[in-house]
Amino acid sequence: MMQSPEAARSARALTAELVKAWTYFWPERKLQGGGERGRGERERGGEREGGERKGGEREGGERKGREREGGHNAGTKRRHEDEEASSNKKLVIDHSVKVARHYNSLQEVGLAARSRSRIFFMRNFNNWLKSILIGEVLEQVRGVGSQQVCVLDLGCGKGGDLLKWRRGGIHHLVCADIAAVSVDQCQSRYEDMKRKSYANEKLYSAQFISADCTKEVLSEKLDDPALMFDICSCQFVYHYSFESEQKADMMLRNACEHLKPGGFFIGTTPDAFELVKRLEASDSLSFGNEVFKVSFQSKGSYPLFGCQYHFSLEDVVDVPESLVYFPLFEHMAKRYNMRLVLKQRFSEFFEEKVKKEQNRSLMMKMMALEPFPCEDGGRQATDSTGEYCHAKEHCGTSGRPLGTLSRSEWEATSIYLVFVFQKMS
Ligand SMILES: C[S@@+](CC[C@H](N)C(=O)[O-])C[C@H]1O[C@@H](n2cnc3c(N)ncnc32)[C@H](O)[C@@H]1O
Repeated sequence: MMQSPEAARSARALTAELVKAWTYFWPERKLQGGGERGRGERERGGEREGGERKGGEREGGERKGREREGGHNAGTKRRHEDEEASSNKKLVIDHSVKVARHYNSLQEVGLAARSRSRIFFMRNFNNWLKSILIGEVLEQVRGVGSQQVCVLDLGCGKGGDLLKWRRGGIHHLVCADIAAVSVDQCQSRYEDMKRKSYANEKLYSAQFISADCTKEVLSEKLDDPALMFDICSCQFVYHYSFESEQKADMMLRNACEHLKPGGFFIGTTPDAFELVKRLEASDSLSFGNEVFKVSFQSKGSYPLFGCQYHFSLEDVVDVPESLVYFPLFEHMAKRYNMRLVLKQRFSEFFEEKVKKEQNRSLMMKMMALEPFPCEDGGRQATDSTGEYCHAKEHCGTSGRPLGTLSRSEWEATSIYLVFVFQKMS
């Protein structure tokens, strides 16, 4: 993609500014608090990270004040630059093979086995959330007159979203993933769906590509190289690319290069601020509960790319992932003429969308929340103590049964955020 010299210069300047913001943001707090922060400070830190813009502004103000102090700050700045340089050296690590191997090895399980999973409701909840996101973006695309909607599912996995695209009545789907076994299973699922589709149903056409989307140019693999997409959907995938700048940029290029003007790049990814907040609040290098665990190699310094942690979730995920520093992601997307239109934590997205009757009824259909108390002598997803205290408390006040997730599942799903970028014309 060509860039004017002015755009390249201003992009470089902005990157430098973001690098500064990042390196000042985290290590500075450690230097001030000496590592052992009290509860009050931790909570204030939480507030600041939650309200990202406010935090950024305040941090900017504090930074100026410190810069005026001179000597000590010059030393601190140098230390940050040294840290930055040494962390950049780590970028040679390439986890693609490990990631592909892990996802390839996952067994496809039937509905019966899935419904026995400890995280059955959380997975349904995540699926509900994706369905709402996809449904709303499809509505917007149609609103501006696109009738034959083309979609790129970047990191499609085994085809968990094939049905959502069918419900959305799209025209064409391209599915791409690094895990070749998953792509094959995705294709079989699509073909099965096609065989079983109604006689008068016009199911979308589809292409399946097995490729490392952080290294290969997808457009070179398209059956129709001139194909332009209305939507690129990248669900629970983009963070794998933040291992290096080159990889993050290639995945962005694949997501955005073939989007029509006005088209959308949507996705879900862990919120780096939330992960770091939980890490800093932990006494060790990891945190989690009975369903998930996140382990870092160190804390206090967080490189822009290749800030790796290990993520495991029940029997579904067990891989190295990288923090996505969102302001940098947003900035990089500008190179592809993309404007951020929505960034919301899962909790915020849920609270907003659940207000709509039709979203609530989809939630029931998808069994996206667990009934509490459980019905007719059944059992909750877990017997562990404390997992439903919040629900008990709520029931006590309202006296009515409710839909919920166990505490551990809420803690796992609330790591994530939803993003929507739109291509400017
Ligand atoms: C958590 S799964 C999500 C699958 C699917 N998007 C969904 O929501 O059900 C992450 C997927 O990202 C894929 N992935 C990871 N790194 C990738 C890369 N470099 N290129 C393409 N796909 C990648 C994995 O193989 C895996 O299928």
